[in-house]
Amino acid sequence: MCGIIGYVGSADATPILIDGLRKLEYRGYDSAGVALLDGHGLQVRKRAGRISNLAQLLQEQPVQGTTGIGHTRWATHGGVTDANAHPHLDQSGKLALIHNGVIENFQALRDQLTAQGHTFRTETDTEVLAHLIGGIFDDLPGARNKTTLLEALRAALKQVSGTYGLALMHVDVPGVILAARRGSPLILGIGKGEHFVVSDVSAIIGHTRDVVYLDDYDLVTIERDCFDITSLAGAGTHFQVSKVEFTSEDAEKGDFPHFMLKEIFEQPESTRDAMRGRLSDQESTAKLGGLNMTSRELRDIERIVLTGCGTAFHAALVGEYLIESLAHLPVECEFASEFRYRNMPMEKGTLVFAISQSGETIDTLAALRESKRKGHRTLGICNNVGSTLARESDGGVYMHAGPEIGVAATKSFTSQITVLVLLALLLGRIRHLSSAQGIEVIQALETVPDKIRQVLGEAENIKYLAEKYADAAGFLFFGRQQNYPIALEGALKLKEISYKFAEGHPSAELKHGIIALVGPEVPSVMIMPDDAVFEKNVNTLEQIKAREGMVIAIATEGRKDLAKVVDDIIYIPKCPDYIAPILSAIPLQLFAYYLAVHLGCDVDKPRNLAKSVTVE
Ligand code: G6P
Repeated sequence: MCGIIGYVGSADATPILIDGLRKLEYRGYDSAGVALLDGHGLQVRKRAGRISNLAQLLQEQPVQGTTGIGHTRWATHGGVTDANAHPHLDQSGKLALIHNGVIENFQALRDQLTAQGHTFRTETDTEVLAHLIGGIFDDLPGARNKTTLLEALRAALKQVSGTYGLALMHVDVPGVILAARRGSPLILGIGKGEHFVVSDVSAIIGHTRDVVYLDDYDLVTIERDCFDITSLAGAGTHFQVSKVEFTSEDAEKGDFPHFMLKEIFEQPESTRDAMRGRLSDQESTAKLGGLNMTSRELRDIERIVLTGCGTAFHAALVGEYLIESLAHLPVECEFASEFRYRNMPMEKGTLVFAISQSGETIDTLAALRESKRKGHRTLGICNNVGSTLARESDGGVYMHAGPEIGVAATKSFTSQITVLVLLALLLGRIRHLSSAQGIEVIQALETVPDKIRQVLGEAENIKYLAEKYADAAGFLFFGRQQNYPIALEGALKLKEISYKFAEGHPSAELKHGIIALVGPEVPSVMIMPDDAVFEKNVNTLEQIKAREGMVIAIATEGRKDLAKVVDDIIYIPKCPDYIAPILSAIPLQLFAYYLAVHLGCDVDKPRNLAKSVTVE
């Protein structure tokens, strides 16, 4: 949600900023801008629309400088206009600022500053922040240097409520960028004779892989040859330099036309990486050392709460079925956005898992904090190493899926489910699962990458079906038990990237209202692999067919009988129930992808969405 990048070094900052913004574009893409400091002052270029619009503007009106900041926006306060794009200037026009987050008391601050004679040119909360900091700096007596600019920033932020990951620079303090974080991700990149601040490492891995994941209330000063981190309170702060594990190629599309397709096709490897080193044949269980819990502590768990947003929430719902059936532990799932404001009674033995690809979703972080505040052990399942979730949780499991750039989550979903199978196995083996049953689960897990490859082999057939049904008015998705969340996820993928109306439901709910929507113009996708409820799903399917509804079935290979009843069928390999959600999710990802491409939609950057929602 909004991408920010700042650069100080000796190279021309413009191409570095533009390249970085292209990598950050998935965080928000309704407008973009840069500000550079050259020997003569501040130069700002910004434009509504994609980064390519900004790049075009920069060709027409080039700027140069070795200190610069850049921003790609996902609008919160103020419409999508050139003026509302970042960077924003202060009253003097000498301070430029970019910001990701929401300043909650911006209206009160704006009124106060207006009364002092400030004139605002935009409707954004960010412009208020720029004026506040710039005003304080202008009123400070004495020298105008990085120390006093930092003092002004610190004084301003003490008046601010809300969230920010921000970076700023000032004409009177050349060669310096100040940045601050509270609630929105911010990372310091340490190069040779150059330093960066960014909201996501993918924007700088072509330049450096040495980074510091900044904490809330950290303030950082970067210059060409040095950096300094202090806290908002004024003290020095402890920090650690980390190495980014993935390479710049991992964050490129390669030969694929879209990141989404590349990421769908990476799932044999990404699920393998989620299991790597975590399966113990000897003990017939999963080893998840990052949980930081002893067997006894795991044994004492009486209930699990899983929370997350969007696709991560759907993975949580799958986890509910898996943990209940393999480990016989009560599980409750709750949207993180609801959890944070709900006063859910939670007994002492409750273990909370926050699930998030990015580890930066603000609602999920708020749920984590609320749970910790109540004294519960709170763990994370996340992909983004060094993310806020990873750092604030009491432990957890990394998905190791590699960077996911496509806005619609795909490989992160199947990795989350894989991790949840591992968790269910571990908890099950501590309770009632025998060693032989544990081995069965391990063997089934080991077949997953190959089975995914087999499903991916259906891509051409799925493309054909997506194009065949592309004119439908809307879609219904049905599944039962652990495949009910897959119905939700299939509908979500389609909505997100094709803008088709779609809903997911438990199959048997059809007759309780949804059936009114069934007709030739609204096809149904039925997820109905061979399992205990297969025949029940057939009932639902017959009810749809009786009302002239078209049906596409996701079924187990060999179900030739079904092919005669449904309109179209996509086969997945035979597998145990706890593996089926991983395999049945993939055809639905491909279906949504090909349908959206057919309709000419921008699948990697769907309208109105952002990859990681870091505002409430
Ligand atoms: C946004 C994205 C979704 C994603 C959700 C949770 O809404 O558009 O695709 O599932 O955030 O993201 P997280 O990073 O917490 O998994």
